[in-house]
Amino acid sequence: MIVVDNVVAGYRTPNGLLKAVDGVSLEVRDGEILGIAGESGCGKSTLLKLLYGSFSEGLEIFSGSVTWHDADGSRTIDASDFHKHWWDLFSYVPQGSMSAMNPLMKIGAQMIDAGSAHRTIDRAARLVRIRSTLADLDLSEKVLDLYPHQLSGGMRQRVLIGLAAYVDPQVILADEPTTALDVVVQRQILENLVRLQRSRKNSIVIVSHDLGLHFQIADRVAILYAGRLAEIGTADEVLRQPAHPYTLGLVGSLPQLGDKRPRQGIDGRPPSLLNPPAGCRFHPRCARAMPVCSQVEPELVLVSPGWVGACHLLKEIA
Ligand SMILES: Nc1ncnc2c1ncn2[C@@H]1O[C@H](COP(=O)(O)OP(=O)(O)OP(=O)(O)O)[C@@H](O)[C@H]1O
Ligand code: SF4
Ligand SMILES: [Mg+2]
Repeated sequence: MIVVDNVVAGYRTPNGLLKAVDGVSLEVRDGEILGIAGESGCGKSTLLKLLYGSFSEGLEIFSGSVTWHDADGSRTIDASDFHKHWWDLFSYVPQGSMSAMNPLMKIGAQMIDAGSAHRTIDRAARLVRIRSTLADLDLSEKVLDLYPHQLSGGMRQRVLIGLAAYVDPQVILADEPTTALDVVVQRQILENLVRLQRSRKNSIVIVSHDLGLHFQIADRVAILYAGRLAEIGTADEVLRQPAHPYTLGLVGSLPQLGDKRPRQGIDGRPPSLLNPPAGCRFHPRCARAMPVCSQVEPELVLVSPGWVGACHLLKEIA
Protein backbone atom coordinates (compact mmCIF):
# COMPACT_ATOMS: atom_id res chain seq x y z
CA MET A 1 0.00 0.00 0.00
CA ILE A 2 1.19 3.53 -0.75
CA VAL A 3 0.14 6.18 1.74
CA VAL A 4 0.09 9.86 0.77
CA ASP A 5 -0.21 11.89 3.95
CA ASN A 6 -1.08 15.57 3.67
CA VAL A 7 1.46 16.19 0.95
CA VAL A 8 2.34 19.61 -0.37
CA ALA A 9 4.64 19.22 -3.36
CA GLY A 10 5.59 21.01 -6.52
CA TYR A 11 8.23 23.11 -8.17
CA ARG A 12 10.33 26.21 -7.43
CA THR A 13 9.73 28.55 -10.36
CA PRO A 14 11.06 32.06 -11.10
CA ASN A 15 7.60 33.30 -10.07
CA GLY A 16 7.51 31.49 -6.75
CA LEU A 17 6.55 28.11 -5.33
CA LEU A 18 4.12 26.23 -7.52
CA LYS A 19 2.24 23.78 -5.32
CA ALA A 20 0.97 21.31 -7.90
CA VAL A 21 -0.22 18.95 -5.15
CA ASP A 22 -1.42 20.88 -2.14
CA GLY A 23 -2.50 19.06 0.99
CA VAL A 24 -3.47 15.75 -0.60
CA SER A 25 -3.99 12.59 1.45
CA LEU A 26 -4.95 9.26 -0.06
CA GLU A 27 -3.84 5.66 -0.21
CA VAL A 28 -3.24 3.19 -2.99
CA ARG A 29 -4.52 -0.12 -1.66
CA ASP A 30 -3.06 -3.49 -2.50
CA GLY A 31 -4.73 -5.02 -5.54
CA GLU A 32 -6.90 -2.05 -6.41
CA ILE A 33 -7.19 -0.01 -9.56
CA LEU A 34 -7.24 3.65 -8.62
CA GLY A 35 -8.19 6.19 -11.27
CA ILE A 36 -7.06 9.82 -11.09
CA ALA A 37 -8.98 12.42 -13.08
CA GLY A 38 -9.27 16.19 -13.38
CA GLU A 39 -8.65 18.85 -16.00
CA SER A 40 -5.27 19.66 -17.48
CA GLY A 41 -2.88 21.27 -15.02
CA CYS A 42 -4.68 20.02 -11.89
CA GLY A 43 -1.64 18.07 -10.67
CA LYS A 44 -2.39 14.53 -11.85
CA SER A 45 1.03 13.81 -13.31
CA THR A 46 2.73 15.41 -10.33
CA LEU A 47 0.77 13.19 -7.94
CA LEU A 48 1.68 10.14 -10.00
CA LYS A 49 5.37 11.11 -9.91
CA LEU A 50 5.13 11.35 -6.13
CA LEU A 51 3.63 7.86 -6.01
CA TYR A 52 6.56 6.64 -8.11
CA GLY A 53 9.15 8.65 -6.18
CA SER A 54 10.34 10.41 -9.31
CA PHE A 55 11.92 13.68 -8.25
CA SER A 56 13.52 14.72 -11.51
CA GLU A 57 12.53 17.99 -13.19
CA GLY A 58 12.61 19.88 -9.90
CA LEU A 59 9.72 18.13 -8.15
CA GLU A 60 10.01 18.49 -4.36
CA ILE A 61 7.91 17.49 -1.38
CA PHE A 62 7.57 20.64 0.76
CA SER A 63 5.67 18.93 3.58
CA GLY A 64 3.85 15.70 4.35
CA SER A 65 5.00 12.24 3.30
CA VAL A 66 4.61 9.47 0.74
CA THR A 67 5.43 5.96 1.98
CA TRP A 68 5.03 2.39 0.84
CA HIS A 69 4.04 -0.30 3.34
CA ASP A 70 4.09 -4.01 2.70
CA ALA A 71 1.02 -6.12 3.37
CA ASP A 72 2.00 -7.30 6.86
CA GLY A 73 3.23 -3.89 7.95
CA SER A 74 6.79 -5.06 8.55
CA ARG A 75 8.47 -2.88 5.96
CA THR A 76 8.10 0.83 5.19
CA ILE A 77 9.85 2.69 2.40
CA ASP A 78 9.95 6.47 2.05
CA ALA A 79 9.34 8.06 -1.37
CA SER A 80 12.94 9.29 -1.43
CA ASP A 81 13.98 5.61 -1.65
CA PHE A 82 11.32 4.42 -4.10
CA HIS A 83 13.83 4.71 -6.95
CA LYS A 84 15.75 1.78 -5.47
CA HIS A 85 12.67 -0.35 -6.14
CA TRP A 86 11.74 0.84 -9.61
CA TRP A 87 10.76 -2.06 -11.90
CA ASP A 88 10.61 -4.25 -8.83
CA LEU A 89 7.92 -2.79 -6.55
CA PHE A 90 6.90 0.08 -8.81
CA SER A 91 6.81 0.59 -12.52
CA TYR A 92 5.77 3.64 -14.43
CA VAL A 93 4.22 4.37 -17.79
CA PRO A 94 5.01 8.07 -18.29
CA GLN A 95 2.89 10.58 -20.16
CA GLY A 96 4.14 10.93 -23.75
CA SER A 97 5.49 7.68 -25.09
CA MET A 98 8.41 8.82 -27.25
CA SER A 99 10.56 10.49 -24.63
CA ALA A 100 10.20 7.52 -22.30
CA MET A 101 12.30 5.19 -24.44
CA ASN A 102 15.95 5.10 -25.33
CA PRO A 103 16.00 5.92 -29.08
CA LEU A 104 19.28 4.05 -29.59
CA MET A 105 18.27 0.72 -28.10
CA LYS A 106 16.09 -1.95 -29.62
CA ILE A 107 12.84 -2.67 -27.77
CA GLY A 108 13.94 -6.17 -26.77
CA ALA A 109 17.15 -4.92 -25.17
CA GLN A 110 15.23 -2.19 -23.33
CA MET A 111 12.76 -4.70 -21.97
CA ILE A 112 15.47 -7.09 -20.80
CA ASP A 113 17.33 -4.17 -19.23
CA ALA A 114 14.29 -2.94 -17.33
CA GLY A 115 13.82 -6.37 -15.85
CA SER A 116 17.40 -6.59 -14.62
CA ALA A 117 16.38 -4.60 -11.54
CA HIS A 118 14.18 -7.51 -10.64
CA ARG A 119 15.97 -9.78 -8.28
CA THR A 120 13.93 -12.92 -8.68
CA ILE A 121 13.74 -13.50 -12.43
CA ASP A 122 16.72 -14.43 -14.57
CA ARG A 123 17.22 -13.47 -18.19
CA ALA A 124 15.59 -16.60 -19.64
CA ALA A 125 12.54 -16.20 -17.42
CA ARG A 126 12.37 -12.55 -18.41
CA LEU A 127 12.20 -13.49 -22.08
CA VAL A 128 9.35 -15.90 -21.43
CA ARG A 129 7.46 -13.21 -19.56
CA ILE A 130 8.18 -10.60 -22.22
CA ARG A 131 6.76 -12.90 -24.90
CA SER A 132 3.59 -13.68 -22.98
CA THR A 133 3.07 -10.01 -22.05
CA LEU A 134 3.48 -8.96 -25.68
CA ALA A 135 0.89 -11.55 -26.66
CA ASP A 136 -1.46 -10.21 -24.00
CA LEU A 137 -1.09 -6.77 -25.52
CA ASP A 138 -1.64 -8.06 -29.06
CA LEU A 139 1.90 -7.15 -30.08
CA SER A 140 4.03 -9.26 -32.39
CA GLU A 141 7.38 -10.47 -31.10
CA LYS A 142 8.90 -8.69 -34.08
CA VAL A 143 8.77 -5.43 -32.09
CA LEU A 144 11.62 -6.74 -29.94
CA ASP A 145 13.95 -6.26 -32.88
CA LEU A 146 12.83 -2.72 -33.68
CA TYR A 147 13.94 0.71 -32.47
CA PRO A 148 11.36 3.06 -30.88
CA HIS A 149 11.18 5.35 -33.94
CA GLN A 150 10.11 2.37 -36.05
CA LEU A 151 6.92 1.94 -34.03
CA SER A 152 3.66 3.84 -34.45
CA GLY A 153 2.52 5.96 -31.50
CA GLY A 154 -0.01 3.32 -30.55
CA MET A 155 2.53 0.50 -30.64
CA ARG A 156 4.95 2.54 -28.56
CA GLN A 157 2.29 3.02 -25.92
CA ARG A 158 1.59 -0.70 -25.87
CA VAL A 159 5.30 -1.47 -25.59
CA LEU A 160 5.56 0.92 -22.65
CA ILE A 161 2.65 -0.79 -20.93
CA GLY A 162 4.31 -4.14 -21.62
CA LEU A 163 7.57 -2.84 -20.24
CA ALA A 164 5.86 -1.76 -17.04
CA ALA A 165 3.76 -4.90 -16.66
CA TYR A 166 6.06 -7.78 -17.49
CA VAL A 167 8.33 -7.23 -14.50
CA ASP A 168 5.31 -7.97 -12.30
CA PRO A 169 5.56 -4.93 -10.03
CA GLN A 170 3.33 -4.45 -7.01
CA VAL A 171 2.11 -1.15 -8.42
CA ILE A 172 1.92 0.09 -11.99
CA LEU A 173 1.63 3.85 -12.28
CA ALA A 174 0.30 4.79 -15.71
CA ASP A 175 -0.03 8.38 -16.90
CA GLU A 176 -2.50 8.77 -19.77
CA PRO A 177 -1.10 5.52 -21.16
CA THR A 178 -3.36 5.16 -24.16
CA THR A 179 -4.17 8.66 -25.34
CA ALA A 180 -2.58 8.14 -28.77
CA LEU A 181 -4.86 5.21 -29.49
CA ASP A 182 -8.41 5.07 -30.74
CA VAL A 183 -11.04 4.43 -28.11
CA VAL A 184 -11.74 0.79 -28.95
CA VAL A 185 -8.06 -0.16 -28.95
CA GLN A 186 -7.52 1.84 -25.73
CA ARG A 187 -10.14 -0.16 -23.93
CA GLN A 188 -8.82 -3.48 -25.25
CA ILE A 189 -5.28 -2.75 -24.11
CA LEU A 190 -6.35 -1.55 -20.72
CA GLU A 191 -8.57 -4.56 -20.25
CA ASN A 192 -5.52 -6.71 -20.94
CA LEU A 193 -3.47 -4.75 -18.45
CA VAL A 194 -6.20 -5.00 -15.86
CA ARG A 195 -6.49 -8.75 -16.39
CA LEU A 196 -2.74 -9.13 -15.99
CA GLN A 197 -2.71 -7.13 -12.78
CA ARG A 198 -5.82 -8.75 -11.32
CA SER A 199 -4.42 -12.21 -11.85
CA ARG A 200 -1.28 -11.15 -9.98
CA LYS A 201 -3.21 -9.19 -7.34
CA ASN A 202 -1.20 -6.05 -7.99
CA SER A 203 -2.34 -2.41 -8.01
CA ILE A 204 -2.68 0.03 -10.86
CA VAL A 205 -2.92 3.79 -10.59
CA ILE A 206 -4.11 5.23 -13.84
CA VAL A 207 -4.27 8.90 -14.76
CA SER A 208 -6.73 9.71 -17.49
CA HIS A 209 -9.08 12.45 -18.59
CA ASP A 210 -11.41 9.70 -19.77
CA LEU A 211 -14.05 9.25 -17.08
CA GLY A 212 -15.69 6.49 -19.12
CA LEU A 213 -12.47 4.54 -18.89
CA HIS A 214 -12.31 5.03 -15.12
CA PHE A 215 -15.89 3.89 -14.84
CA GLN A 216 -15.06 0.78 -16.80
CA ILE A 217 -11.84 -0.29 -15.10
CA ALA A 218 -11.23 1.56 -11.81
CA ASP A 219 -12.30 0.37 -8.37
CA ARG A 220 -11.93 3.84 -6.92
CA VAL A 221 -11.56 7.28 -8.48
CA ALA A 222 -9.83 10.40 -7.15
CA ILE A 223 -10.87 13.74 -8.65
CA LEU A 224 -8.23 16.47 -8.45
CA TYR A 225 -8.94 20.14 -8.83
CA ALA A 226 -6.19 22.77 -8.76
CA GLY A 227 -3.81 20.57 -6.79
CA ARG A 228 -6.38 19.48 -4.24
CA LEU A 229 -8.52 16.42 -3.80
CA ALA A 230 -12.12 17.31 -4.68
CA GLU A 231 -13.46 13.84 -3.98
CA ILE A 232 -12.46 10.19 -3.75
CA GLY A 233 -14.62 7.09 -3.52
CA THR A 234 -15.62 4.03 -5.51
CA ALA A 235 -15.90 4.63 -9.25
CA ASP A 236 -19.57 3.81 -9.02
CA GLU A 237 -20.22 6.37 -6.28
CA VAL A 238 -18.09 9.17 -7.63
CA LEU A 239 -19.06 8.88 -11.28
CA ARG A 240 -22.72 7.89 -10.93
CA GLN A 241 -23.72 10.27 -8.17
CA PRO A 242 -20.93 12.83 -7.75
CA ALA A 243 -20.83 14.53 -4.37
CA HIS A 244 -18.69 17.45 -5.52
CA PRO A 245 -19.97 20.11 -7.96
CA TYR A 246 -16.68 19.85 -9.90
CA THR A 247 -17.11 16.13 -10.48
CA LEU A 248 -20.71 16.79 -11.45
CA GLY A 249 -19.45 19.26 -14.05
CA LEU A 250 -16.90 16.78 -15.41
CA VAL A 251 -19.45 14.00 -15.60
CA GLY A 252 -22.01 16.41 -17.07
CA SER A 253 -19.70 17.29 -19.93
CA LEU A 254 -19.44 13.65 -21.03
CA PRO A 255 -21.36 12.70 -24.14
CA GLN A 256 -23.95 10.06 -23.28
CA LEU A 257 -24.53 7.18 -25.58
CA GLY A 258 -27.54 7.82 -27.80
CA ASP A 259 -28.16 11.20 -26.20
CA LYS A 260 -27.92 13.95 -28.81
CA ARG A 261 -28.60 16.84 -26.45
CA PRO A 262 -25.61 19.14 -25.92
CA ARG A 263 -23.83 18.32 -22.68
CA GLN A 264 -23.26 20.90 -20.02
CA GLY A 265 -19.57 21.60 -19.45
CA ILE A 266 -17.89 23.78 -16.85
CA ASP A 267 -17.28 27.39 -17.85
CA GLY A 268 -13.80 28.81 -17.45
CA ARG A 269 -10.51 27.13 -16.72
CA PRO A 270 -8.63 25.89 -13.67
CA PRO A 271 -6.68 28.64 -11.87
CA SER A 272 -2.93 29.17 -11.88
CA LEU A 273 -1.38 27.10 -9.14
CA LEU A 274 1.06 29.92 -8.40
CA ASN A 275 -1.84 31.98 -7.09
CA PRO A 276 -4.96 29.88 -6.54
CA PRO A 277 -8.20 31.53 -5.39
CA ALA A 278 -8.89 31.79 -1.65
CA GLY A 279 -11.48 29.56 -0.05
CA CYS A 280 -12.67 26.75 -2.30
CA ARG A 281 -10.47 26.84 -5.37
CA PHE A 282 -13.44 25.92 -7.53
CA HIS A 283 -15.62 28.84 -6.35
CA PRO A 284 -15.08 31.17 -9.36
CA ARG A 285 -16.51 28.43 -11.63
CA CYS A 286 -19.04 26.83 -9.32
CA ALA A 287 -22.74 27.32 -10.06
CA ARG A 288 -23.55 26.48 -6.43
CA ALA A 289 -21.00 28.77 -4.77
CA MET A 290 -22.14 30.44 -1.53
CA PRO A 291 -20.54 33.41 0.27
CA VAL A 292 -18.53 31.09 2.54
CA CYS A 293 -16.95 29.40 -0.48
CA SER A 294 -14.72 32.35 -1.38
CA GLN A 295 -13.48 32.67 2.19
CA VAL A 296 -13.17 29.28 3.81
CA GLU A 297 -11.40 26.33 2.28
CA PRO A 298 -13.67 23.27 2.57
CA GLU A 299 -12.29 20.30 4.49
CA LEU A 300 -12.71 16.75 3.27
CA VAL A 301 -15.86 15.32 4.83
CA LEU A 302 -17.30 11.85 4.81
CA VAL A 303 -20.07 11.34 2.28
CA SER A 304 -20.41 7.68 3.21
CA PRO A 305 -17.84 5.15 4.45
CA GLY A 306 -14.81 5.25 2.16
CA TRP A 307 -16.15 8.18 0.16
CA VAL A 308 -15.02 11.73 0.97
CA GLY A 309 -15.44 15.10 -0.71
CA ALA A 310 -14.25 18.67 -0.08
CA CYS A 311 -17.23 20.99 -0.49
CA HIS A 312 -19.19 23.16 1.95
CA LEU A 313 -22.44 21.70 0.64
CA LEU A 314 -21.43 18.28 1.95
CA LYS A 315 -21.33 19.46 5.55
CA GLU A 316 -25.10 19.45 5.42
CA ILE A 317 -25.15 15.75 4.56
CA ALA A 318 -22.37 14.55 6.86
N1 LIG B 1 8.81 20.50 -14.10
C1 LIG B 1 7.94 21.46 -13.79
N2 LIG B 1 8.37 22.70 -13.40
C2 LIG B 1 7.48 23.67 -13.09
N3 LIG B 1 6.14 23.52 -13.10
C3 LIG B 1 5.66 22.33 -13.47
C4 LIG B 1 6.52 21.23 -13.84
N4 LIG B 1 5.76 20.16 -14.17
C5 LIG B 1 4.47 20.57 -14.01
N5 LIG B 1 4.42 21.84 -13.59
C6 LIG B 1 3.20 22.62 -13.28
O1 LIG B 1 2.50 21.93 -12.25
C7 LIG B 1 1.10 22.03 -12.46
C8 LIG B 1 0.50 20.62 -12.50
O2 LIG B 1 1.06 19.95 -13.63
P1 LIG B 1 0.76 18.42 -13.91
O3 LIG B 1 1.60 18.06 -15.09
O4 LIG B 1 0.92 17.66 -12.67
O5 LIG B 1 -0.78 18.49 -14.32
P2 LIG B 1 -1.70 17.40 -15.05
O6 LIG B 1 -2.97 17.36 -14.27
O7 LIG B 1 -0.96 16.13 -15.23
O8 LIG B 1 -1.99 18.07 -16.47
P3 LIG B 1 -2.21 17.35 -17.90
O9 LIG B 1 -3.62 16.81 -17.86
O10 LIG B 1 -2.09 18.50 -18.85
O11 LIG B 1 -1.18 16.31 -18.09
C9 LIG B 1 0.90 22.80 -13.75
O12 LIG B 1 0.66 24.15 -13.38
C10 LIG B 1 2.23 22.68 -14.44
O13 LIG B 1 2.50 23.81 -15.24
S1 SF4 C 1 -17.29 24.56 -1.62
FE1 SF4 C 1 -18.68 26.01 -2.59
S2 SF4 C 1 -17.61 26.69 -4.45
FE2 SF4 C 1 -16.60 24.85 -3.71
S3 SF4 C 1 -17.55 23.22 -4.85
FE3 SF4 C 1 -18.65 23.38 -2.93
S4 SF4 C 1 -20.36 24.79 -3.36
FE4 SF4 C 1 -18.90 24.98 -5.04
MG1 LIG D 1 -0.33 15.07 -16.86
